[in-house]
Amino acid sequence: MRNLEKVYGEGETTVNALQNINFSVKRGEFMLIVGSSGSGKTTLLNMIGLLDRPTSGHVIIDGVDTSTLNDNQLSAFRNSKLGFIFQFSNLLPDLTVLENVILPRKIQGTVEGAEEEAKSLLKTVGLESQFNKFANKISGGQAQRVAITRSLINKPAIVLADEPTGSLDSISAETTVQLLKSLNRKLNQTFIIVTHERPQFGEVDKIITVKDGRIIEGELEANLV
Ligand SMILES: Nc1ncnc2c1ncn2[C@@H]1O[C@H](COP(=O)(O)OP(=O)(O)OP(=O)(O)O)[C@@H](O)[C@H]1O
Ligand SMILES: [Mg+2]
Repeated sequence: MRNLEKVYGEGETTVNALQNINFSVKRGEFMLIVGSSGSGKTTLLNMIGLLDRPTSGHVIIDGVDTSTLNDNQLSAFRNSKLGFIFQFSNLLPDLTVLENVILPRKIQGTVEGAEEEAKSLLKTVGLESQFNKFANKISGGQAQRVAITRSLINKPAIVLADEPTGSLDSISAETTVQLLKSLNRKLNQTFIIVTHERPQFGEVDKIITVKDGRIIEGELEANLV
């Protein structure tokens, strides 16, 4: 992230949601973004995830300055490089567990082998007996594990998660954290996670604290390579 700034709204209702954001993450790192409510964490995650463009500054991923991409290129880039886990699992209720997981591959047009890969990933997260259940017939903790699996099916270089344990009880939250950390080690994917539950995550590679749209702890200086 290089000199990121995000301004919402116009005129008197302007919100400077992010200012002077500079940091870098290496492949395979497990990073947390923390900070109080309204500090700019989701806004930052949306910038990193290319879900929204910064007002100014650059998001550079794998050497590509994404500000140079048009909207179509940006979507394709996002599809191939990034996986998302939202606070609520956002599964499609009328699809089965397996169908939900395969969906990103259908969108990407790369269904070949997807079912086998989905089944193997679902086994990793302990859902081998749930393949054919509808997504509205499983528990919240199971749904979150399905959402994690879905975020990984495109083999993203970077997995982004906004409060992945926020809607879970402490036992399911603990299981989810252990799962994310073991996937991070096994798959060498980068994880960037927004959380209010910093202690749940134990030891991590990097933590950035955001306050009033600025980084107040973590990496403060521009990394002008
Ligand atoms: N779409 C939007 N339009 C205008 N202002 C917004 C918009 N989204 C967020 N904001 C404002 O930007 C600031 C940062 O919001 P953001 O959602 O990033 O906070 P957050 O750190 O994720 O908070 P929380 O922990 O409550 O989820 C807040 O002041 C918020 O009101
Ligand atoms: Mg938020």
